[in-house]
Amino acid sequence: MDDEDWRRFITAYHHEHPGITEQLFSLADTSPYAWLAEPLVGVEGAVLDLACGSAPTRDQLPDADWVGIDLSAAELAEAARRGRGPLVRAGADALPMAFASAGAVCAAMCLPVLTPLPQVLAEIRRVLRPGGTLAALVPSQSGLSPSGVLGWLRVMAALRAVRQPWPNPQARDGLAALLRDAGFRVRCDQRRVFTLAIDSADAAALLAEALYLPGLTARRAQAAKRSLARWAAPGRRLELPLRRVVADLPTEQPSQEPR
Ligand SMILES: C[S@@+](CC[C@H](N)C(=O)[O-])C[C@H]1O[C@@H](n2cnc3c(N)ncnc32)[C@H](O)[C@@H]1O
Repeated sequence: MDDEDWRRFITAYHHEHPGITEQLFSLADTSPYAWLAEPLVGVEGAVLDLACGSAPTRDQLPDADWVGIDLSAAELAEAARRGRGPLVRAGADALPMAFASAGAVCAAMCLPVLTPLPQVLAEIRRVLRPGGTLAALVPSQSGLSPSGVLGWLRVMAALRAVRQPWPNPQARDGLAALLRDAGFRVRCDQRRVFTLAIDSADAAALLAEALYLPGLTARRAQAAKRSLARWAAPGRRLELPLRRVVADLPTEQPSQEPR
């Protein structure tokens, strides 16, 4: 799948499923968004929430000079419906913000899907002030217990899928290295395993819808929901390993021109 195909897929997907990531994370034992936002509490300057979706981090940073940016009108409408803002519709590869105008960038569950990634990282660097902070939350491929592995095998078997075709798979467990290469100073790189409560048919259906699977037909999705609804049970937990990377832009920058 090339960048164009991916962009078409992800635009259509979020048009049909606004707020889906936040809904899925509402099944978690504790909020991944609170964990992501921790290092940004009290940060100086504007906080840009990149690819904000329904903007769940807005509630985690109530006192921040926060702005959410996303490409999807449907996601932004969902954020507005939840009373969150200000919001701007734009692509992450062409941010409508001035050079060095943000104190922090918050990137929840988006760097593995934003294309073209080098341009997106260049834009983050451009809008961050020297010494500014990037906090990113991404899926991790490691950290599952043996029962966690079995749980995911069960889910993917129901969906007849092997993996999600992330366009930037290196921006998951390899994110810290990627950011170092892009000129950031990585302050911390941590993995935490959350658990999702798959205890009802509704939770099972949400899980079946929440994965990026471009080849999934409506018929297969329905069959997967039925299969996962049979698997769902009180106390059923699915492990979800996530990685939080916090990185700063060095204060001494090579000279950069505004775009
Ligand atoms: C997995 S969702 C994460 C949403 C939100 N950050 C969260 O964690 O709930 C990925 C988001 O990236 C947005 N997106 C995808 N490609 C984009 C792009 N090129 N520029 C801006 N946003 C994009 C989608 O519309 C979607 O809202």
